[in-house]
Amino acid sequence: MPDSKPGFDKEGLGNVLLVAISLCLVCSIIVSTAAVVLKPQQKLNQELDQKQNILRAAGMLAEGSNVDAQGRGIDELFSQFSVRAVDLRTGRFTEEVDPADYDPIRAAKDPALSVELSDTEDIATIGRRENVSLVYLRQSAGGVDKVVIPVRGYGLWGTLYGYLAIEGDLSTVAGLGFYSQKETPGLGGEVDNPAWKSQWPGVALFDQSGEPAVRLVKSRSPVGSMAAGHEVDALSGATLTTRGVQNLVQFWTGDLGFGLFLENLKTTT
Ligand SMILES: Cc1cc2nc3c(=O)[nH]c(=O)nc-3n(C[C@H](O)[C@H](O)[C@H](O)COP(=O)(O)O)c2cc1C
Repeated sequence: MPDSKPGFDKEGLGNVLLVAISLCLVCSIIVSTAAVVLKPQQKLNQELDQKQNILRAAGMLAEGSNVDAQGRGIDELFSQFSVRAVDLRTGRFTEEVDPADYDPIRAAKDPALSVELSDTEDIATIGRRENVSLVYLRQSAGGVDKVVIPVRGYGLWGTLYGYLAIEGDLSTVAGLGFYSQKETPGLGGEVDNPAWKSQWPGVALFDQSGEPAVRLVKSRSPVGSMAAGHEVDALSGATLTTRGVQNLVQFWTGDLGFGLFLENLKTTT
């Protein structure tokens, strides 16, 4: 004998719809609450990740480790840096934006905050360049001893995003690392290979006339020659990624990137 009340059809359309709608409501409330509650933590994690990327590019954190040789963690190491906003049009520091709350990549999408690059200017294939970007400066007793700049440019499958760390002489690479790229693992994806990345420290960024001069080459110039000082091995089987990396380094160290800023900093340190 059925135990349901007479007239109440548990499997009726109205009942099924009521249960389905209630379930959807409960689930959407749970998902939205989780999104709101977890947002600050997500932001903190993203910030920590960026700090880690900057420290790795600067050679202050080894691959796969979250502490340095003295056991200092990411926040402690990153506290050695000051973050400043730079107007790329003038190469000067600016107070126009709050570095703690500014995203140069987002700014590059806003026509009011960026400039469209012509085909000849746009060697990194980024389309638009933000007017204001960020730099990470580490000071020592003798002045600035590391400058880290955000860089990006197109490879074969997409834009590579990373940081280029420069020594206190403002013309020698301290390291290069990408935190986002879509190149093929084993080919262009070798930009993340520690062995390939280990060639970057010591590379000279500029030629004698101050122009960006880093080159990724299939065969190296003779050891000790002027040209050899600007060279890094090309990625084998990945000519397009290789060209993309060379172009993005040249773009961001050139006059449309941080070139003016580095020039200005040389005269003030
Ligand atoms: C499946 C597949 C993935 C590839 N991925 C890349 C890549 O990530 N970067 C790149 O420059 N070339 C990549 N290539 C190769 C390019 O299409 C092109 O052939 C190559 O850049 C030529 O370089 P090479 O002169 O060094 O051989 C890929 C090719 C194939 C078939």
